[in-house]
Amino acid sequence: MILVTGGTGLVGSHLLYHLLLSNDSVRAIHQRSSDLNAVKKVFACYTAEAEEMFNKIRWVEASLEDIPALDTAFEDITQVYHCAALVSFIRSEYKKMRRINIDGTTNIANLCISHKIQKLCFVSSVAAIENAAPGVIMDESDNWSSTSDKSGYSITKYGSEMEVWRASQEGVPVVIVNPGVIIGAGFWHKGSGSMFRKIQKGLKFYTKGITGFVGVEDVVKVMQRLMDSDITNERFVLVSENLSYQEIFSMIAAALNKPKPGIRINRFMSECIWRLEYIRSKLTLSPPLLTKRTARSALANHPYTSEKIKNEIGFEFESIKSCVNKTARCLNDNL
Ligand SMILES: NC(=O)c1ccc[n+]([C@@H]2O[C@H](COP(=O)([O-])OP(=O)(O)OC[C@H]3O[C@@H](n4cnc5c(N)ncnc54)[C@H](OP(=O)(O)O)[C@@H]3O)[C@@H](O)[C@H]2O)c1
Repeated sequence: MILVTGGTGLVGSHLLYHLLLSNDSVRAIHQRSSDLNAVKKVFACYTAEAEEMFNKIRWVEASLEDIPALDTAFEDITQVYHCAALVSFIRSEYKKMRRINIDGTTNIANLCISHKIQKLCFVSSVAAIENAAPGVIMDESDNWSSTSDKSGYSITKYGSEMEVWRASQEGVPVVIVNPGVIIGAGFWHKGSGSMFRKIQKGLKFYTKGITGFVGVEDVVKVMQRLMDSDITNERFVLVSENLSYQEIFSMIAAALNKPKPGIRINRFMSECIWRLEYIRSKLTLSPPLLTKRTARSALANHPYTSEKIKNEIGFEFESIKSCVNKTARCLNDNL
């Protein structure tokens, strides 16, 4: 039987759908606070039988921090897809992120070892790849180093990868994927989903920063292909295209029939905005809309290459325009 963590999130919910197409024995953990309806909404983007598909999942309540509950979830499991994590760029969430991302992965790694799991697939991030000089194309061989410019998120993704490599040293066959920004339907209040929502509501601003983008279906298809293959103890960057935020915003605006954001944010404006947001968040006790990290990464130029996965399994990525169009159609259906 397969175990999925993070099944109520973007990657995990799309993964559950694709696993269920060929597999009836899928267990997924959720937290007491998780929104299981979000998973049904994602399934509804694929099929009219969303409810039936959803009912095939064997849900077990377990937090990554609750070892006894996780131990129960691991009973009779042969393969584990570990997608759960806290994705945050808010400084005050750093300690919580370490607990969930690093300590939570320690728990998953230990249980994979003690339950003699046949294979573990871990969703890391390009944030766990060294940020080379601006504009230099990065791949899996670029080793992360702990410099002061690293975000808390980047530190915890690197730390969790280390736990997965430890499990591999202790006999668990592992594969790691390192996606860029993932484009996909269902979660409109966070990640790339919030870009769609903001542009739908009339976002006017863009930056010229560049990063790697990939569709969520490609991410989960590669994960399944790697789990079904003989490949072990390797990591793979998953990026379909490197695009500027101006380009991706324009694509999203076109897909939603909205005007393209037309005001460019330069470095000076961005440095002012995140500082003002910091003050506003302290005064109103609400999370900042832009943090120092998100402001700086929106202006950075960090391209990646996925030649390794293309060569290894002959994978062909969907264009980002096609992923954006599919996601926009689902946003219109969801709302
Ligand atoms: N989205 C991207 O653009 C992107 C890019 C590169 C890499 N990644 C990586 O991909 C993975 C999945 O990201 P995502 O975008 O799917 O994130 P997401 O939508 O925020 O989902 C996170 C998932 O983790 C679960 N989770 C969080 N804390 C947990 C805990 N203590 N115990 C159990 N489950 C917990 C969440 O459960 P609840 O529903 O209860 O909150 C949710 O199911 C992460 O490892 C992330 O670092 C994401």
